[in-house]
Amino acid sequence: MTPDRYVVPLPWDSDFLGFEVARLVPQRLGSSELAMCLTQLWKDGTRLVYWGSDPGDVESQTAATANQGLLVDKKTVFVRELHGFVPCAPERYATHSLPEDGWSDVLARLALQIGQYSRFHLDNHFSPETWQRLYCTWMQNSINRAIADDVLVIRDSGLIVALVTVRAKERTGEIGLLGVHESHRGAGLGRALVDAAMRWFLDRRLSSVRVVTQDANRPACKLYEACGFVVDSVENYYHFWNPLNDPV
Ligand SMILES: CC(C)(COP(=O)(O)OP(=O)(O)OC[C@H]1O[C@@H](n2cnc3c(N)ncnc32)[C@H](O)[C@@H]1OP(=O)(O)O)[C@@H](O)C(=O)NCCC(=O)NCCS
Repeated sequence: MTPDRYVVPLPWDSDFLGFEVARLVPQRLGSSELAMCLTQLWKDGTRLVYWGSDPGDVESQTAATANQGLLVDKKTVFVRELHGFVPCAPERYATHSLPEDGWSDVLARLALQIGQYSRFHLDNHFSPETWQRLYCTWMQNSINRAIADDVLVIRDSGLIVALVTVRAKERTGEIGLLGVHESHRGAGLGRALVDAAMRWFLDRRLSSVRVVTQDANRPACKLYEACGFVVDSVENYYHFWNPLNDPV
């Protein structure tokens, strides 16, 4: 078995970070298979490898630790059917679609709050500048609709205080970025964002909704559970850094 079959190069990540990044495909690997893949990748000049592994497979978890993997995320996918949707927030929060040229510093600050639990923030091989630039780029590419179909916002006295990005992928609706400004949390705005996203998906006759978050982000997990979502899958996400390179 050649390691090539196990590896996907990641051009977008490589371009953004300025060095080669790849992802391991199988969710389960033994220690020697993993070591073989990494050795080949390091030799080819790859600097960072992501691995979304099966948390229930003891051999894979042992392999990751034995190969100096950093457990940076328990990537959690929540899903729910749209059938039987009942709004779960008070009606008082109105959401509006943000224009494509609506970029502002307020959104940059919200992007950083959304990125707090991200593996790029938690892995201290990345400088704060790098993960902040990543989340601002993600937000900008959502506002300009490159990676989102719509951006729904809630305003208070004209200022954006909450935002959710949505996308339709075949019959599934995807929630991308979702965040409530720190000053406005605990008042039902998170629920209102989820409701607004659900209505957006229902208007497009989609059948289910998917959202990815981090298990460590308890407020987000609790919010999705409170809105009727269930956990679809969890992956233990590791970063492996090429030991032959300097820190980023
Ligand atoms: C997650 C987040 C959007 C919640 O927004 P919010 O406006 O405070 O949420 P709501 O007031 O609508 O709360 C709805 C439910 O979420 C859960 N919840 C929200 N904050 C919580 C917290 N800090 N701890 C535990 N549960 C929480 C509760 O179940 C709550 O229901 P309840 O009020 O009946 O107890 C907000 O904390 C946030 O913006 N976090 C930073 C960005 C982020 O992490 N986004 C998720 C990316 S996937």
